[in-house]
Amino acid sequence: MTLGIGLIGTGFIGKAHALAWRQARAVMGGLPPVRLELLCDLPEDRARAMADQFGFSRATADWRALVADPGVDIVSITTPNGLHREIAEAALAAGKHVWCEKPMALTLADAEAMAEAAARSGKVTLLGYNYLRNPAVLHAERLVAEGRIGRPVHFRGWVDEDYQADPDLPWTWRARLADAGLGALGDLGCHLVSLMLRLMGPVESLIADTQVIHETRPVEGGGRAAVENEDTATAILRFASGAQGSIATSRSAWGRKNRLDFEVHGTKGMIAFAQERMNELQLYVNEGPTSEAGFKTILSSPAHPPFGSFVPAPGHQLGFIDLKTIEAADLLRAVAGGPPARPDFAEGLVIERIIHAIARSGTEGGTRQRIG
Ligand SMILES: NC(=O)c1ccc[n+]([C@@H]2O[C@H](COP(=O)([O-])OP(=O)(O)OC[C@H]3O[C@@H](n4cnc5c(N)ncnc54)[C@H](O)[C@@H]3O)[C@@H](O)[C@H]2O)c1
Repeated sequence: MTLGIGLIGTGFIGKAHALAWRQARAVMGGLPPVRLELLCDLPEDRARAMADQFGFSRATADWRALVADPGVDIVSITTPNGLHREIAEAALAAGKHVWCEKPMALTLADAEAMAEAAARSGKVTLLGYNYLRNPAVLHAERLVAEGRIGRPVHFRGWVDEDYQADPDLPWTWRARLADAGLGALGDLGCHLVSLMLRLMGPVESLIADTQVIHETRPVEGGGRAAVENEDTATAILRFASGAQGSIATSRSAWGRKNRLDFEVHGTKGMIAFAQERMNELQLYVNEGPTSEAGFKTILSSPAHPPFGSFVPAPGHQLGFIDLKTIEAADLLRAVAGGPPARPDFAEGLVIERIIHAIARSGTEGGTRQRIG
């Protein structure tokens, strides 16, 4: 059996999906083969050019034709956020498995509808939380689960970029509620929340503050348009375990290129991770002589699966596209009847509840939001 892949969108992350589909089986082995069947983008000549570049057999400018195509078994959705719900629902209704980029949708109600559609369909769904796939992060999860740092009591997290720091940057779809939904929270904050939930468990409640730094941006052809969603957000959280957390995100943080950092403080030690040094994990355990106390740098290696599927020696480093490859492999394994791919639409809905609760608390002046 080969699985036909349909890819919608060929921008930043569409290319990452295309590369991941091309190499997942070659890297991991033991997966069903895929056919790069149909690629969709606008306009049609771009779709044709990108299909040729990525190695897809056919191209179209009509995503509805792609989701209905009998040669397509799995649909990759890498379009702007405003199209995620409509495409995902149509693909699931047509009996396709779906790999959809984060955030799920523009609104919480849209995300809920997507989770319901996924449950009705019985098809495999997966959201694009690639940072969860990092072997160093998976090792952090194991260390926490094994109690290596004791009971986790405090989580700190930051996710910052500077792609909206310049006030003179032109206005884009990312600034408009109808196209993007949330701002920094939907673009960046949701990645941090996905990591936080894996390490700390469910969130019980939170309070937050948000701000728009640059209220208007120049529009092509003259004039300025309003920025309708947040540039920054900061939240203080309580977990169901009783632990506390604080997280912050900004898309206007000069100098930060892909800062996705967290610390898990435990009763016996602490773990620290920084995405810009994604092949390392810092571990401090309160044991041994005081004279030797200090953080240990753990370098990703074949001891941290699936690092060894890419390269058999430590210190040789994985990159961003490799995380997407691991994600594609997890999806293929689930489609072939293996363990479920995570986070699926049901699990992703929990992430959406948290980022939308942060946004709501921010606009309501810091009200406490309970996470159901
Ligand atoms: N997982 C990650 O790390 C990550 C990184 C970047 C972006 N993303 C997510 O991926 C999505 C896309 O972001 P991007 O940065 O790749 O955007 P982008 O603007 O670079 O690419 C969007 C693509 O969708 C295409 N498109 C738009 N409307 C279309 C339509 N009606 N039919 C067919 N194609 C259409 C565009 O032509 C373009 O190729 C967003 O949801 C974003 O949040 C995720």
